[in-house]
Amino acid sequence: MTSTNGTGTHGAVLMDKVPDKDAPLVELRNAGKSYGNIRALYEVDLKVFPRQVTCVLGDNGAGKSTLIKIISGLHQHTEGEFLVDGEPVRFSTPREALDRGIATVYQDLAVVPLMPVWRNFFLGSEMTKGPWPIRRLDIERMKKTADEELRNMGIVLDDLEQPIGTLSGGQRQCVAIARAVYFGARVLILDEPTAALGVKQSGVVLKYIAAARERGLGVIFITHNPHHAYMVGDHFSVLRLGTMELNASRDDVSLEELTNHMAGGTELAALKHELAQVRGVDVEELPEEEDLTAPVATPSEGKTLK
Ligand SMILES: Nc1ncnc2c1ncn2[C@@H]1O[C@H](COP(=O)(O)OP(=O)(O)OP(=O)(O)O)[C@@H](O)[C@H]1O
Ligand SMILES: [Mg+2]
Repeated sequence: MTSTNGTGTHGAVLMDKVPDKDAPLVELRNAGKSYGNIRALYEVDLKVFPRQVTCVLGDNGAGKSTLIKIISGLHQHTEGEFLVDGEPVRFSTPREALDRGIATVYQDLAVVPLMPVWRNFFLGSEMTKGPWPIRRLDIERMKKTADEELRNMGIVLDDLEQPIGTLSGGQRQCVAIARAVYFGARVLILDEPTAALGVKQSGVVLKYIAAARERGLGVIFITHNPHHAYMVGDHFSVLRLGTMELNASRDDVSLEELTNHMAGGTELAALKHELAQVRGVDVEELPEEEDLTAPVATPSEGKTLK
């Protein structure tokens, strides 16, 4: 993510507009995307509100990345409408999305592993001081600001001089979230931030997703994991084979229902049938078809980090 003025006030300008909590920041209406003959996404409706975490769930190939690529300006939709602040848009580059306050944190973060944490925090948007032509990096101010901003988000690192490559995957995600917040993101898109993380680190990332919401951002949280989604989510959209299978707010869906949507009960039943033809797999040991389609009981329901 880069800022045009290099002072970090870019964001402050965008955040000055007090968000109307009833007006979506981003909206897709009957939107779709085809890659040549492949219809990767169709008839998708989505509204992202400030101070809410909107979870987009779905299996491999369901269209999650395609959906966020449209919102983040990497691809253009080929059907329907895409609106930002109620105004139809069509971004040609991620820069245009960023200028409207839409920031994306990708799983394979673009960091320079050997550079210190504070340097990565300002990568591409360095603070400078002094008049041209003797303008130089304002290292002290960048270190101080990075430290303050990370602390504001509740992220405490021992030493901002340490190379970012020495941080855990979860910590790096957290630095990226704090960075997006600082540079004025109004909409924060996280593409499977917990996919490669263990339980503890996932918990930390979920905490900062909640912290970004508390700062007033509209968060789009892409995940395979209904448990992670339910911990922080306000709204849940499940994609299947390129279209929305479920679109429900937290009050209208339980963790059991969400898990069941994700587990794809009928597909698992079909798989069981196929496995029955393979020698060496004891299908008697597998759960019954009714068990696969019935709601799944889990002990962690209702836990939230709010
Ligand atoms: N650039 C592309 N060209 C052609 N087809 C594509 C392209 N990108 C995605 N697709 C197809 O669109 C469908 C949706 O892909 P997408 O990457 O959005 O899924 P996903 O939900 O992000 O999956 P995953 O969980 O594996 O990341 C897939 O069938 C995929 O093969
Ligand atoms: Mg994907």
